Order: sequence, then C-alpha cells, then structure tokens
Amino acid sequence: MRPGCIDMGNNNDLRIGIVGMGIRGKLFAATIEQSEHARLVAVSESSQATLDAATKRFGAPGYADFTEMIDTVPMDIIIIATPDFAHKAPFMAAAAKGINIMVEKPFATTLADAEEMYAAVKNSKIKCRVAFENRWNGVFVNLLEQARDPGQTGEVLAINATLNDTIYVPTKMLSWADRSNPAFFLLAHAADLACHIKGKPIKSVYATGVKKLLASMGVDTYDSIMTHIVFEDGAHASFENSWVAPASMPMVVQFEFRVLGEKRAYMVNFNDQMLKTAGAERYDLAFTGGQTVDGRLLAAPCLMLHSFIDDVRNDRAIYSNEEDGMINMRLLDAVGRSLESGEVIRMP
Ligand SMILES: NC(=O)c1ccc[n+]([C@@H]2O[C@H](COP(=O)([O-])OP(=O)(O)OC[C@H]3O[C@@H](n4cnc5c(N)ncnc54)[C@H](O)[C@@H]3O)[C@@H](O)[C@H]2O)c1
Repeated sequence: MRPGCIDMGNNNDLRIGIVGMGIRGKLFAATIEQSEHARLVAVSESSQATLDAATKRFGAPGYADFTEMIDTVPMDIIIIATPDFAHKAPFMAAAAKGINIMVEKPFATTLADAEEMYAAVKNSKIKCRVAFENRWNGVFVNLLEQARDPGQTGEVLAINATLNDTIYVPTKMLSWADRSNPAFFLLAHAADLACHIKGKPIKSVYATGVKKLLASMGVDTYDSIMTHIVFEDGAHASFENSWVAPASMPMVVQFEFRVLGEKRAYMVNFNDQMLKTAGAERYDLAFTGGQTVDGRLLAAPCLMLHSFIDDVRNDRAIYSNEEDGMINMRLLDAVGRSLESGEVIRMP
C-alpha cells in the first residue's frame, strides 16, 4: 500500500470526502461525479439547509460535524472548501488520520496556522495540494511555461497584476467577507503566479489599503489593497486587488497580468476570451476559459482536482503543494503587517 493511501479494498476508486459544501464544495462534488477513478463518500457542512441540499443532490452521507465524518468514514482524499479562516481545524484532523488533502487557497489566514498545517503534512507524509487553480487555467498554463523559460524570457524584471472582483462578491456571494479581505481572496492567486514565475525569495513587502465603501455598507473589510514586493534579485511586482468594482462590469472578476522579461514581455487580459456579446441593455464578455463541453466540466478547478486524484493514485509529487502554500502565506502575513504598521516589511 502506498504511503498516504488507505487500503481501498476491492474497489479501486479513491474515496473522497468534502468539508464545506458551498460554491467550491459543490463544484468539486460535481467534478468527482465525472471521475473514472474516484467517488464521493461523504460530505460535511455546518449549515443544515446546505447539508440537506448537498446530500440530496450528490447522494453521499452528510455530517454536520467534520470530525465525526473524518473519524467514521475511511477516505483517501479530503477536500477542504470551508471559508478562508476555517481551513485549519479540518486540515489538522484529516492530516492526523493520514488522509491526503486538497485545501482551498489561501492556505490559512494566519502564519501560525499555516506553520502548524505545514508541520502536520511533513509529520504525516500525506500529499497536500493548495488549490492555486490558475496553475490549471489554460492562459496561465501557457504564461507560466513561457515566462519561466529563461531561454525565451531572460530574467523576469517586473510583474504587474490586477485581480479585482465586483462588489457582488463581498456583499452577496460570500457571507464571510468581513472575516477575509481582497488579499486573502484575490492576491493569493496573483501572488502565487508571480512567485512561481520568479522562483526567487521575496526581500520586502509594502501594502496600503482602503476601508470605506464596504465598511459603510456594514461589511468590515478592505475595499482595495495595493501590494508592492521586491524579490531577492531586485525584480519587483505590484498588485491591485479590489473588492468594489462596479456591479455593471462585464465579468465578476477583472484579471490582468503582465510580465516584463529581459527578452520578452507577456500580457494577459483574462477578461478578453474572444467571445463578446451585445444585447439590448448590455455589452458582455463571455467566459469561455473552461466551460462545460459535452457535459464535461473543464474549468481550471475541475482539472486541478482530476490532477490531484491522478497524483494520489500514481504516488506522484505534488505541484502546487504545502511549500507554495507557505510562500504565499508568508507574503499574505507580511501584507497584513504592512497594512497595520504602514511600514515596509523586510522578509527574513
Ligand atoms: N468562490 C470562488 O470563486 C473561490 C475561488 C477560489 C477559491 N475559493 C476558496 O474556497 C473556499 C470556499 O469558498 P466558497 O466560495 O465555496 O465559500 P462558501 O461560503 O460558498 O462555502 C463555504 C461553505 O463552508 C461551510 N462551512 C463553514 N464552516 C464549516 C465547518 N466547520 N464545517 C463544514 N462546513 C463549514 C459554510 O456553511 C459554506 O457552505 C474559500 O477559502 C475561498 O477563498 C473560492
């Protein structure tokens, strides 16, 4: 039997449980339905109405308490899709049982939590994927492949990213926006791409934030965070992450990413996916970067989960793992400290 895998008995399907059956949990459950190598064996969800709906829709047993699920149901993989601040407790419980984990980004919301989670992976020898889904997003797969090739790009000198959401996300989509912020929810993605492209330690971090509009609406979090980082080799990156873009924007997400290398520059406009539509009232940019084709879910998070299932089945090394989670968390922690102190944070 492979380390980190439970005896699967006669059936070769990997047994997967999910904690948190909100937007992401449901998407992952639907993805598992399409897997030839995995089946959903249990779900856990703290809202009774959401739990009832999930067990009815996906036909797996439901648990209000994730510890009961983890203690009762044998699993090879657990997916943690709870809100940003609620990853650690199910993560630690699953790691203690030797269950392989795919945890949503951000890895955690405090460095202390992340350090404990990291140590738990190392001590238990489980496989851990931190769900930086853009590494499975076609346009960024292409960007990473090219920008990380020194023969093609030379040294990367500068990176500039804008990843914003419309105000719909913190006010209507997420019930827990006041316990997160645009850095945990958005910068986490853009910074993972930037750090993966550079592949160098970060030397310093400076961030400023604005708290006005959302606070006036009763959601106590940042409207916008701007982050500037300098890498050890002197290259730099800047990020705009705002949660208050107008609801009339053609897509809920606004994502632009630019890389300037010595030999080549790259420019991604994620919003321009080639299909534009104009109706009587509104001009829209259509999302074509991973829609369902012939009933098959092809979005980046679905491909990311299929790849984790394959990694566990074939005992492969994990791409986007706990090391990447820690790089990301150290940056998010420095952003938080810079927002509070107004200082440039020097990284050890
Ligand atoms: N929605 C997105 O576009 C998106 C994209 C990428 C990553 N993520 C990340 O995925 C995670 C989940 O996000 P979401 O959008 O699905 O949020 P969500 O609010 O839709 O779902 C979270 C679910 O977890 C449940 N929950 C909370 N505490 C629990 C507990 N202790 N045990 C069991 N269930 C619990 C909530 O009731 C809720 O149903 C977050 O960390 C988020 O940053 C979300």
